[in-house]
This record gives sequence, C-alpha cells and structure tokens, in this order.
Amino acid sequence: MTFEDEINQTVRYLKPSGIRRFFDIAATRKGVISLGVGEPDFITPWHIREEAIHAIEQGKTFYTGNKGLPKLREGICAYYKRRFHVDYDPEDNVIVTVGGSEAIDIVMRTLVQPGDEIILPTPAYVAYAAIIEMAGAKVREIVLKEEEGFKLTPEALKDALNEKTKAVILNFPGNPTGGIMTREDYEKIVPILKESGIYAITDEIYAELTYEQKHCSIAEFDEIKDHVIVINGFSKAYSMTGYRVGYILAKKELIDMILKIHQYTIMCATTPCQFAAIEAVNNGDKDIEEMFVSFRQRRNYIVKELNRIGLYTPMPQGAFYAFPSIKRTGLSSEEFCERLLDEQSLALVPGNAFGDAGEGFVRISYAYSLDQIKAAIAKLEQFLKDGGWDK
Ligand SMILES: Cc1ncc(COP(=O)(O)O)c(C=O)c1O
Repeated sequence: MTFEDEINQTVRYLKPSGIRRFFDIAATRKGVISLGVGEPDFITPWHIREEAIHAIEQGKTFYTGNKGLPKLREGICAYYKRRFHVDYDPEDNVIVTVGGSEAIDIVMRTLVQPGDEIILPTPAYVAYAAIIEMAGAKVREIVLKEEEGFKLTPEALKDALNEKTKAVILNFPGNPTGGIMTREDYEKIVPILKESGIYAITDEIYAELTYEQKHCSIAEFDEIKDHVIVINGFSKAYSMTGYRVGYILAKKELIDMILKIHQYTIMCATTPCQFAAIEAVNNGDKDIEEMFVSFRQRRNYIVKELNRIGLYTPMPQGAFYAFPSIKRTGLSSEEFCERLLDEQSLALVPGNAFGDAGEGFVRISYAYSLDQIKAAIAKLEQFLKDGGWDK
C-alpha cells in the first residue's frame, strides 16, 4: 500500500488553499508587494491587548468552561442585541470557539450525514468547500452573479434545493466578493428557507464592515431563527486575527450537540484571549468605528483607481475586498496572478481560488495601508500597459 493509499482519501484529494499556495511563492521572493491576505493591518487596540496581558499576569492561565467564559458569552449576546437586534441567551445559545474557522468546522460536522448536500453560493471563502467535504457532505454550488451584486436570489436558491439539502451557507458581507444581503433581499429567501426546513449557516464575520447600510442578520427573522446558525468572531472587526476567538449562536438543542465536538477536540478557546475578547465586545465599538472609516477611505480609493486603469470593479458593499474583472485581458485568473507576480512583484489572489465561479476575477484585499495600495495600483497599471490591455 502506498502512503497516499494509507491516508484518508478525502484529505488526499483535497486541494491545498489557492491563497496559501500563492503566498508561499511570494514569500520566497524579495520586494514583493502583497494585497493578498484578508487580515486588517491595524495592531489590536491597546485596551484589548492589555486585557490579555493582564490575564496572564494575574495567572488566569487555566482552561475555561467548554462554552467559554460566562462574561464573554454575556458580552457576545449583549453585542448581538445592541448591534443586530437579535436575542440570544448566554447560557443556552453560545459557544466560544477558536476563531470562526473552528466554528464552521464543528457546525458542519454536527449537521451533516453521508449523502447530505450543502448549498454553497460561490465565489466563496476557501475553507467552506473543504470543510463540507471533510465532514462527508457534498457541495452544491450556486453561482453568484456580478450583475446581481453577488447576492443570493430566491430563484437560484429554489433551483439548488432538493431532498438531500441539509443547509445553505450565507456569507454576507462576502469574501471575496464584498456582496451583502439587505433585509429586503432576505425577505425574498426566508419563506423558501422556512418551507424547505433546511438550516441557514450565516457567517457574519464581516458584519461590522458594511459601507452604505447597516448589516442585517438573517437571525432577525423569528420564523426561521430555530434553523439559523450564526458564526462570527473577533478577527476582522477588532483586528484580532492572531487571538483566534470566534463564536457560534444557535438554538440550545444544537448548541448542546455542537458542544460535544468542541469539548472533545478543543476543550476551550485560549483563556487570555477570551479575556481580551471580553474587553473588545464590551468596549470596542469605538475601535470598530475608527477602523471602519479607514477601510471606507481605502475602498473608495482602490475601486476608483482600478476602474481608472481599466479593470472593471463594482463597488463592494461590504468586507475589505475588491473583486475586479480581468476578463478583458483574456488571461485566466491564475495566469494573470502568476505573470503579475513575475513581472511586477505584486501578489493578488486568483479568483478561481474561490471556486470555478471566481474565474475571470482577482481578489484584492484593501486591508493594507494607502501607501501599499498606491504602490500596488502603479504596478498593476504598468502590467496592463505592458500587456496592451490599458486601452
Ligand atoms: C468569510 C470568512 N469566514 C471565516 C473566516 C475565519 O476567520 P477566523 O478563523 O480568523 O475567525 C474568514 C477569514 O478570512 C473569512 O473570510
């Protein structure tokens, strides 16, 4: 038996992340500018960092309860009520996880059985499809269209549903498209979700980054709330990616089931980081606001510039990604990014890393300084000129 035959065959055939592959190449080269990684460039606000330091100083270095510190769960529920008008109970409805990443994994493993299908609107964050497959389910893709604002339409949802469907993943504001769903958009799909009885797994990690209107959580719709599972976390809103703290909100019966996996595999999120998260969720609204203003400025700048140099880019309504079309170059998204890296030492992410529906696009993160963004635009402009695609 070969080594490849020995290991889990789903893992064997899993494609490594298209984002990481690219950045591993970029990391080996000197002088590369990268607008690739989806991570805010701000250092975590001091009052939040201080709480983690303080926790360590005071010897708060032991396991917490599996669900997470009670004060953190209380803070999370108060935050969801304050920002998104949704009620959850700190004791019954919350698990603190190791980032949104763990949350996606354990929700999926709790829900799916062999043969189940999970509807995945694409282009989508790279982890979803891999996690769905590792949990033993099948991905049923819906292609989100640029001309529809990368929204999930009722027609597309209806088409994708069948008797095997267990859940649909909703990621609005979306990575990589920046698409959002408004209350009116949700009103069109909620009756379909209700009738079908499937779960809506809503990853709201970019909820604090909507530019023209406030985020609407699908958990606000009482008629389906029992079948809504909210995933969120501290990484993007408070610039706390390295702390690895996220959470799940759902009905008690589900939380009790999901907790079993969390209990056996993780035990609890890192204790000092949970203390930092308490400070963030209770006293971080102002930090969110400050970072938001900066992201909006960068968004407006980069989108204007991309369109000026000839890459058609719709205005993203949320998150911190621009998703320009590169179709007019005639290159595939991988060719475009490989040549850009070789010729201009600029690293972007090819759209096909987010599924086949991302072909013809590249993802540009604008969670970088304006100086870096300006330098990247100059490189892109030169690249388009050299290729004769500037006209
Ligand atoms: C849509 C989405 N969900 C979840 C995550 C995971 O975030 P974390 O595990 O840092 O909370 C990311 C990270 O890029 C993301 O873009």
